[in-house]
Amino acid sequence: MIIAIIGSGNVGSALAQSFIRAKHTVLIGAKFPLSEKSLKLATLIGEDRFTSVENAARQAEVIILTTPPDAVLNILPQLGNVADKIIVDATNAIRVKPAGYATAFAAIKDLAQTDKVVKCFNTTGFENMLQPAYPGGGIDMFCAGNNKEAKQVVQQLCTDIGFANCYDFGGDDKVELLEQLALSWINLAIMQGHGRNIAFKVVRR
Ligand SMILES: NC(=O)c1ccc[n+]([C@@H]2O[C@H](COP(=O)([O-])OP(=O)(O)OC[C@H]3O[C@@H](n4cnc5c(N)ncnc54)[C@H](OP(=O)(O)O)[C@@H]3O)[C@@H](O)[C@H]2O)c1
Repeated sequence: MIIAIIGSGNVGSALAQSFIRAKHTVLIGAKFPLSEKSLKLATLIGEDRFTSVENAARQAEVIILTTPPDAVLNILPQLGNVADKIIVDATNAIRVKPAGYATAFAAIKDLAQTDKVVKCFNTTGFENMLQPAYPGGGIDMFCAGNNKEAKQVVQQLCTDIGFANCYDFGGDDKVELLEQLALSWINLAIMQGHGRNIAFKVVRR
C-alpha cells in the first residue's frame, strides 16, 4: 500500500522503517526545511521519501498521524480530499489536547468529515513498533473506530509489520479506552520502572 506518515519523530520513524521492511511504499509528510528528526530518519530511509504533508497525503491510501495531538488542527486542512483514504490516529492526548476536543481522534473525525478514521499504534512504545518480535512470538496491537473495513486494512498492516494480532477494541466510543491503555503501558514501563521493552499480549486457554 502507499502509506503517508505525518511526523518523523519516535513513532513516525519506527513505523516508516517497519512498513518499508514489509515492502509497503512509505512517504513522509514533513515540515520544510527538514528538522533534525526528519534528517535523522532521512539517513535511514532516504531523503527522497520526504515531501510536503499535502503531497504525501494526495498520493497515499493510508495516512498515519504520528504528531503531538494538537498538531492535527494544523495538519488536517493540509490533507486535502480524504474521502477515499483511511486516516490512522496514533496520538495520545496525555499532556495536550487539540483545543475544543477530548482527543485528536475526535478532531480528525470532525475536520476530515470521513468515517474512515482508525485509532491504532498508540498503545505501546515506539521501540515495539520498530520491533514487535519478543521471545515466544509477536506482541499484540489494538485498534478502534466505527468503520470496520478501514479497521480491517489497518489490522492487516499491523500483522504485516510483525504484530501477532491487532485486536478490535470496538467503535469510536472505545478510542479513549485505548488512550487509557497507552497510559497503562506508560505507567508500567516508566512510572513503575519496568522499562520500555515490555508489551501487552492477549493470551487464551
Ligand atoms: N513515543 C512513543 O513511544 C509513543 C507511543 C505511542 C504513541 N505516541 C504518540 O505519538 C505521537 C508522536 O510521538 P513521538 O514520540 O513520535 O513524538 P516526536 O518524536 O516529538 O515527533 C513528533 C513529530 O511530529 C511532527 N510534527 C509536529 N507538528 C507538526 C505539524 N504541524 N506538521 C507536520 N509534522 C508535525 C514533528 O515534526 P518536526 O520533526 O519537523 O518537529 C515530529 O517529527 C504523540 O501524540 C504521542 O503521544 C508516542
